[in-house]
Amino acid sequence: MLSFLRKGHVFAIIILFLLSGCNSFSSEFVKIKPLGVHPNGTVYIGMESCKECHLEIVNSHSSTSHWLTSSQFVTQNFAPITQAENTSFILDDKTKIAFTAINDSIYQQAYKPPYSTPFFSKSIDLAIGSGTKIGYSFLTWEKNSLYQLQGSFYKPNLNWINSPGYPSRFQAFRPIFPRCLECHTTFSQSENWESPAINNRYNKNNIVFGIDCQRCHGPVLDHVKYHRKNPNDKEPKNILKFTDLTQQQRLDLCALCHSGVRSNRSQPAFSFVVGDLLDDYLSPQGVGEPDVHSNQVGLLVRSKCFIESEKMDCSTCHDPHSNEKNNLVKFNNRCIECHQKVEHVTFKSDQNSDCVNCHMPYQESKIMKIQINPDSIRSVMVRTHKIDIY
Ligand code: HEC
Ligand code: HEC
Ligand code: HEC
Ligand code: HEC
Ligand code: HEC
Ligand code: HEC
Ligand code: HEC
Repeated sequence: MLSFLRKGHVFAIIILFLLSGCNSFSSEFVKIKPLGVHPNGTVYIGMESCKECHLEIVNSHSSTSHWLTSSQFVTQNFAPITQAENTSFILDDKTKIAFTAINDSIYQQAYKPPYSTPFFSKSIDLAIGSGTKIGYSFLTWEKNSLYQLQGSFYKPNLNWINSPGYPSRFQAFRPIFPRCLECHTTFSQSENWESPAINNRYNKNNIVFGIDCQRCHGPVLDHVKYHRKNPNDKEPKNILKFTDLTQQQRLDLCALCHSGVRSNRSQPAFSFVVGDLLDDYLSPQGVGEPDVHSNQVGLLVRSKCFIESEKMDCSTCHDPHSNEKNNLVKFNNRCIECHQKVEHVTFKSDQNSDCVNCHMPYQESKIMKIQINPDSIRSVMVRTHKIDIY
């Protein structure tokens, strides 16, 4: 295994050299620019190269929280930040954390009373979070090491807050380990990839931001090359077919990021690829009731709907390529597809009833809490996936 990885590693280095040098693979028709390369040899080519044949999917995917979940920070793409009423907050130890635009960047600066000159100043380099639900967290580079900054942006009330999990006193840095990026990027290569020791140093040129097609569909380069050469072949070639996957394999793809914060076991982050069994890669789920935050899989599999129907999985209700946020009519229709005649005993329902709000209500997360101001800590509300009678 190791020797295979090393070979992959050498290959990765060669490809990266190509990446920085001549910039693109050329195919017969359109140039394919690789965005990164996995040590196992998989080349990430990005979704621009799918457009000519899957335009609709690419366009709709561009507005999903998956795609928007991580990026190099560019101030213009984070308009809500410029609407914040306060550009600072004060911690229990009186440290002031402030955000200041300097040239084209935004810096997190920290001050002690009387708050005249900052004793800490770091630029925001990367952003994590689409802002659909909670907001954005920000990362900064210190050479090749990646850290989370103490301030996050809470979008519902357009304010800066102490990042979830940070102490309420000043702490300069919190290292970003690969599992965080495994859920929020398509690929990130940590240094010494093949070493079991976890660290927060990365190859900066080999990070593929956003969750793109290849995160869920696996390698695609040969698929693109083949179909460009054979435009009349309408059968998908050189690509994993979802219809060939078992229910467990389909669930495991989503469970990689939606079954709670489990840790990487014997293999480094980003080893799992669609089709694999997840338990071979991640530590087992805890035994207690799964949390509503980021554990939709754990909850769904405890629902009668799941247990008593033959092959329910996440795409029974979700179209993974589109932003369906708050489209409850669509979700209710999914319920009705299986529950054509519901005889509610306690009240009379009709087809227009809002099934979701009663049977998948918002619940407080026990692990995801946010400090909006010094004396209010609030749990994030998430829709439970334990479909039940509440
Ligand atoms: C030159 C045309 C072409 C390009 C470029 C292309 N595809 Fe395809 N793809 C096809 C054709 C043809 C099919 C089969 C018909 C269909 O499902 O649309 C297909 C099917 C698929 C399928 C469905 C497989 C299944 O389960 O049946 C996936 C997934 C897919 N492509 C992903 C991609 C991704 C990701 C990219 C970009 C990296 C891409 N394709 C680029 C032509 C192309
Ligand atoms: C690589 C990790 C990863 C995989 C794989 C993944 N997701 Fe996600 N998903 C996320 C993250 C991270 C978010 C939150 C993104 C954000 O808002 O910044 C998310 C958000 C979502 C949302 C909420 C969308 C919204 O706008 O509120 C849905 C629904 C979802 N995922 C469904 C799925 C399904 C279904 C699958 C499997 C087909 C899947 N995800 C696979 C990481 C992943
Ligand atoms: C196990 C996968 C996983 C890990 C690890 C993880 N997240 Fe998330 N994260 C999610 C999912 C899924 C969501 C969507 C919300 C939900 O399901 O409750 C999310 C939501 C978020 C959001 C809010 C996005 C929004 O839409 O407003 C931010 C910010 C965020 N995560 C940052 C981080 C950071 C920073 C780390 C690492 C220190 C991290 N996450 C680790 C899966 C993960
Ligand atoms: C979050 C995971 C995820 C991402 C990201 C993703 N897909 Fe898919 N895709 C799926 C799943 C799951 C299915 C199977 C859906 C089903 O069975 O209903 C699918 C099905 C498909 C299909 C075949 C069925 C169809 O809808 O035509 C194509 C083609 C496809 N995806 C292309 C893409 C392209 C192109 C991208 C990037 C722009 C992409 N996918 C991104 C999860 C994903
Ligand atoms: C793939 C089919 C399928 C879908 C989609 C589906 N269900 Fe179910 N559901 C079932 C089956 C099968 C049962 C068990 C038999 C029964 O009670 O009807 C069930 C049971 C239930 C129960 C009874 C739970 C209990 O503990 O007694 C509720 C409530 C329910 N579903 C609501 C919903 C709602 C709301 C949706 C949409 C968000 C939904 N279902 C979507 C198949 C499905
Ligand atoms: C029976 C239908 C159904 C199934 C199956 C289902 N979901 Fe959902 N999901 C929903 C509904 C309804 C919402 C709420 C949408 C909204 O409020 O905009 C939702 C919301 C979400 C969200 C956003 C949660 C939040 O509060 O922000 C995520 C993430 C998600 N689903 C992931 C998944 C994953 C992963 C699976 C597979 C394990 C899955 N879902 C299976 C119906 C379903
Ligand atoms: C106002 C809240 C509410 C709404 C809206 C609602 N339900 Fe229910 N549902 C309940 C309650 C409470 C029960 C248990 C008592 C009863 O049967 O009246 C129940 C029971 C059920 C059951 C189990 C009983 C059975 O007949 O098998 C199913 C399935 C179900 N609901 C599905 C749905 C679907 C599908 C919708 C949308 C068309 C829906 N519910 C809308 C509250 C609601």
